[in-house]
This record gives sequence, C-alpha cells and structure tokens, in this order.
Amino acid sequence: MSEIKGSVFWITGASSGIGEATALAAAKQGARLVLSARRKEELERVKKATGLAEEEVLVLPLDMEKPAEIQPAVDAVLAKFGRIDILFNNAGVSQRSSVLDTRMEVFERIMTLNYLAVVALTKAVLPVMIRQNSGHLLVTSSISGKLGSPMRAGYCGSKHALHGFFDALRSEVYDHNIRVLVVCPGYIKTDVSINALASDGGKHGKMDDNQNQGISAEVCAEKILQGIRRNRDEIYIGGKEVMGVYLKRFFPGLLNRIVRKQAPK
Ligand SMILES: NC(=O)c1ccc[n+]([C@@H]2O[C@H](COP(=O)([O-])OP(=O)(O)OC[C@H]3O[C@@H](n4cnc5c(N)ncnc54)[C@H](OP(=O)(O)O)[C@@H]3O)[C@@H](O)[C@H]2O)c1
Repeated sequence: MSEIKGSVFWITGASSGIGEATALAAAKQGARLVLSARRKEELERVKKATGLAEEEVLVLPLDMEKPAEIQPAVDAVLAKFGRIDILFNNAGVSQRSSVLDTRMEVFERIMTLNYLAVVALTKAVLPVMIRQNSGHLLVTSSISGKLGSPMRAGYCGSKHALHGFFDALRSEVYDHNIRVLVVCPGYIKTDVSINALASDGGKHGKMDDNQNQGISAEVCAEKILQGIRRNRDEIYIGGKEVMGVYLKRFFPGLLNRIVRKQAPK
C-alpha cells in the first residue's frame, strides 16, 4: 500500500480535468507533486492552486506524443526529488467519429498518446521504482476500456490495450513491491469531449450531455486516492454507466443490444 503523504506523485495530464483535480487532492493529503502536460501556463495555474511550497512541486511540461522528451523528464524529476513514488499516467485524448469516416492518422495518434506513450513513460520510470523497491503505477483507462461504445472505436481500442499491458505488468513487478492500479472512469465532467478528436483529427469541440451530467472531477480524484490507499487493482468511477462492466461480464448479449441503440443511424 502506498502512502500519499510525503510521496513524490507524478501526474500527466495535470493541466485540466481529472489530472488537475487529483493534483489538488493529493497536495491536500501531503504529496509532493510533479505536474506534466503540454500547456505550461495551465500547469503553473494548478501549481499555484495547490498552495505547495516551491521545493514541493515541479512543473514539468511534457508532450507525451514526443518520445524523445520522456527520459529527460524522468531525469528532471530525479534531479529535483531523487525518487518517484506514484506515477499517474493520465494524459489522454478521446474520439467522436465513426470507423468508416475516421482517417488512419487519427487512430495512430490516439494509440500513440493513450497507449504507446504510457508504455514508454512507465518503462522509463520502472527502473527507478525497482531500485527503490517500492512504487505505485496508475493509469487512466475508461469504462470504454472494458466495453465498446460507438463513435469512439479508436479510443476504446487504446484503452482496452492498457488493460492487457498493466495486468501483465502487475504480475511482473509485484515482488518488487510495486503496485498497479487501473482507473476506469465513466462520465466525468471535464473537457474530454471538447478535446476529443473528430474524423479528420480536428477537435470535436462540444461538451457532450453525458459528460455534462457526469460526476465531478473532484469526486473522481477522491476515489482515485482511495484506490491507491486501499491498494486496489482496478476501480470503476461514475454513475449507472458503470453497470456496463457487469453487463458485459454476465449478460454480454444484452449489453450489445443496449450499445447498438446508442449508435447513430
Ligand atoms: N472525463 C471523462 O468522462 C473520462 C472518462 C474516462 C476516461 N477519461 C480519461 O481521463 C484522462 C483525463 O482526461 P480528462 O477527462 O481530465 O480530460 P481533459 O480535461 O481533456 O484532460 C486531458 C489532459 O491530457 C493532457 N494531454 C493531452 N494531450 C497531451 C500530450 N500530447 N502530452 C501530454 N499531455 C497531454 C491535457 O493537457 P495539455 O492539453 O495541456 O497537454 C490534459 O491535461 C484521459 O486519459 C481520458 O481518456 C476521461
């Protein structure tokens, strides 16, 4: 089980939404923070909101789609704090477009950011945690990582891939005292649908009703920290959409009929 108090807690996608809320909640519980995303000014805003002292927080801009930036980022965290206790792989992008219409580059971009970049950062941090003989690896999957939903096939594929990777990794690192938590949010009220990619790679640009009516990023963040403290392997966070996970497991035919009705005609 990881202690949040006093930990060095690195969050990607910390400039908004779930990552930002998790940063604020972890700071309240006594974590030292590394805040990563592309937008430095937003990270500075989050840093200020945490109220942490200069020596307790590092703003570390990082474009996860640029693999060359990953090892220097790990080195920068070690130069500041000398260790990494919790890595929260949270940066990601969603999609709102049909398979037929979506350009191949869009599928590639989603897979690069949501899956391959997560693998690369995790691989770069792993030797540090093995040396420490402790660590906690988190990743934000989605309820869409447990079942398929229309207009986001590329996103679903990228999130499903995370489960295979982290379930396998969990078994490999257990004896190094490294724990793995896969976080599966349902509908959380963030900018995720606004930032989602459209068929041509542009932004969807709209707040979806489901997100708008979703639970707050703050509630989501509390449940993520609880998942760390309780040493859970996988958690589902949301409203009734979470039922989909259990329908898929026990009544897959019924779930398929429900999902089919959600597809645009
Ligand atoms: N909200 C939901 O309903 C929901 C449900 C299930 C799963 N999720 C997952 O939750 C995670 C966080 O999303 P959110 O809901 O908080 O949405 P969000 O507000 O759009 O946050 C996405 C974050 O990812 C960062 N990011 C995007 N591209 C990046 C890149 N190339 N390099 C580094 N950082 C990048 C963004 O920062 P910059 O733009 O500054 O780089 C931002 O901080 C995502 O993995 C998403 O798939 C969300």
